[in-house]
Amino acid sequence: MKKMKKVIAILGSARKKATYRAVQEFEKTLKTLEEVDFEYIFLSKYYLQFCNGCLTCFNKGEEYCPLKDDRDLLFEKMDQADGVIFASPNYSFQVSARMKNFLDRFSYLYHRPYFFGKTFTALVVQGFLGGKKIRKYLESMGKHFGFKVVKGACLKTLDPMTEKQEKKLEKEIRKAANRFYKKLKADSNPSPSSGRLFMFRVSRNLVEVLAPEFRDYQYYKENGWFESDYYYETDIGLLKKFLGAFGDFLGKHIAQNQ
Ligand SMILES: Cc1cc2nc3c(=O)[nH]c(=O)nc-3n(C[C@H](O)[C@H](O)[C@H](O)COP(=O)(O)O)c2cc1C
Repeated sequence: MKKMKKVIAILGSARKKATYRAVQEFEKTLKTLEEVDFEYIFLSKYYLQFCNGCLTCFNKGEEYCPLKDDRDLLFEKMDQADGVIFASPNYSFQVSARMKNFLDRFSYLYHRPYFFGKTFTALVVQGFLGGKKIRKYLESMGKHFGFKVVKGACLKTLDPMTEKQEKKLEKEIRKAANRFYKKLKADSNPSPSSGRLFMFRVSRNLVEVLAPEFRDYQYYKENGWFESDYYYETDIGLLKKFLGAFGDFLGKHIAQNQ
């Protein structure tokens, strides 16, 4: 029997208001498409200290982080999921501080992406202005984590809402949930964009030459990333093969001239 998909939503609002309502609507739509195991993770209920910026996770490894709190528990939650949603209110033209700290605490993943094969999207709720950039920001964070990223939604949720506004909101969420579901049920990893492939090739050469004593080097080696086409097995066409080779060349050149 096919295993039920697990989806988690990580919420950056301490209230059970607009962010929560948007995720509930998303869950409702998703469940009309397929029965999924859906879990709400309220960051306000987890103990996550502020990153002190010591860089130990980058350099030595995340297991050496001096902060002992719920970070690993949150990692497990993402690791056990097939789909992940980051949902945040717009606070002062950014994600909420809770969501930002969550991202900071996992920023070692930008060096060592991990969550390949898992589907990701972002929901941002706001009063009036600035949320589209935040949605894009969260989506780019998702890519850095390694997720398969699907375009999310930015929603105007200021109360009181007219019936027309409510309907528009529901429609946007339904569309986002449908996009998410399409990727969730597709088991394959996407072929990388030219930009991501190029960045991978440049950075692996920087890691290989400049960082042999750092955790990134070990991680790349363990994953076979110094030899592979990309982070994961994927078909890249001839054009991307050339582009990748150029990325390797450029990365080596930059590293050797540091
Ligand atoms: C501290 C703070 C800053 C905010 N900054 C913005 C903003 O820059 N732009 C905006 O459109 N809405 C802003 N808002 C409005 C919230 O995004 C909006 O009320 C949202 O629905 C809150 O989500 P919640 O109900 O889940 O808490 C701000 C709200 C707070 C509390």
